[in-house]
Amino acid sequence: MKRPFQRGKQNPIRRRAKKCTITSLRLKYPVYYTTLENQEGSHVWMDGREMIMLSSNDYLGLTHHPKVVAAGMQALETWGSSSTGARLANGSRSYHDALEEKLAYFIGAETCHVNTAGYIACMSAICGFAQRGDLVLADKNIHSSLWSGINLSGAKLERFSHNNPADLEDALRHEDTDTAKLLVFEGIYSMEGHICPLPQFLEIAKVHDCFTILDDAHALGVLGKQGRGTASHFGLDDRQVDITCGSFSKSLASIGGFIAGDRSLIEYMKSHAKPSIFSAALPPAQVACASAALDVLQDEPEHLQRLWDNVETYNSILKDLDLDTWGSETPAIPIVLGSKERAYYFWKALQEKGIFTVISVAPGVPPGKDLIRTAVSARHSKEDFEQIAEALQYAVKKAL
Ligand SMILES: Cc1ncc(COP(=O)(O)O)c(C=O)c1O
Repeated sequence: MKRPFQRGKQNPIRRRAKKCTITSLRLKYPVYYTTLENQEGSHVWMDGREMIMLSSNDYLGLTHHPKVVAAGMQALETWGSSSTGARLANGSRSYHDALEEKLAYFIGAETCHVNTAGYIACMSAICGFAQRGDLVLADKNIHSSLWSGINLSGAKLERFSHNNPADLEDALRHEDTDTAKLLVFEGIYSMEGHICPLPQFLEIAKVHDCFTILDDAHALGVLGKQGRGTASHFGLDDRQVDITCGSFSKSLASIGGFIAGDRSLIEYMKSHAKPSIFSAALPPAQVACASAALDVLQDEPEHLQRLWDNVETYNSILKDLDLDTWGSETPAIPIVLGSKERAYYFWKALQEKGIFTVISVAPGVPPGKDLIRTAVSARHSKEDFEQIAEALQYAVKKAL
């Protein structure tokens, strides 16, 4: 017979939570989950103090664009606050269909499906297709949402070195030709700022008959013609990637995500991806904001132009200070500092000077790559960069 519960003995989960060193460190050094009281363009307010935001993913700076805000307000008035449930249970709304059609056309896919979060969309893009007995080949540095999708699918996993086609080929050489294979990678890696070698990956996928899944969360709005993404960046607009997924929380100034591809594939996904089937549909205001942002980025090319001009300005500041940016080619630009301590003191010095950034340390990044993640927005001004340059000089003196 089981012994009765002893008073005073702590539940094992409570004990685990209490003993967790990562949690203790987070509570001691409040680096994450900082509360901001206000936000306006590239500036935020923390404890009543104005700071420059240098780590958001609002690459095109459209979050406060009048057309985006007006569209969200109008949708709230017309449709109310919620989509009231899953699409399977209580139907799609015409605003879902309209956004899906617009987005699919923009990125050059036949159709797409929208979800309440990029995380759910990216998870669904994998577990909607991969199953037990299949083999997933994944770039080592992919986002957590993709790992979650792989875990949920039950498929076998083989990782290959980040952005390394030769390593991918090597992994495939030993595999059974009859096994169904899926190749998973990102367009832009948000921590490293790297762009994937899409043409080489597609060539290898063709030779080895791999189904390709591209997470374009950070490339949508940033790369390619008008911001159409990684395939457009490489001049590959002809649906060579099987599935493209991504997020609305970066350049599209909203919240949500998408899975795009041929109609037959998206219909298949709708009956196989549990995170999409059993979660509530994207609410009206978020759809309207993403849809308006999609119009803005086509009608007002100046945002994308300003973003890349700002990337150039920021990179020249970092270069003058001889800082290691891990070869970033995009607006997501890490400052690699090599140890937790250096990253922490560098971050603190930037904060002292009014610059908001985030730290990412191992195991979140490979050992020795502890870094400050920074990201440029089209909203950063000349004055912002003057303050950023001064703050970086100060951090270099103080922390390195
Ligand atoms: C590459 C990548 N994929 C997917 C996601 C998930 O998107 P969301 O934050 O919109 O859920 C993120 C979010 O940071 C991401 O960076």
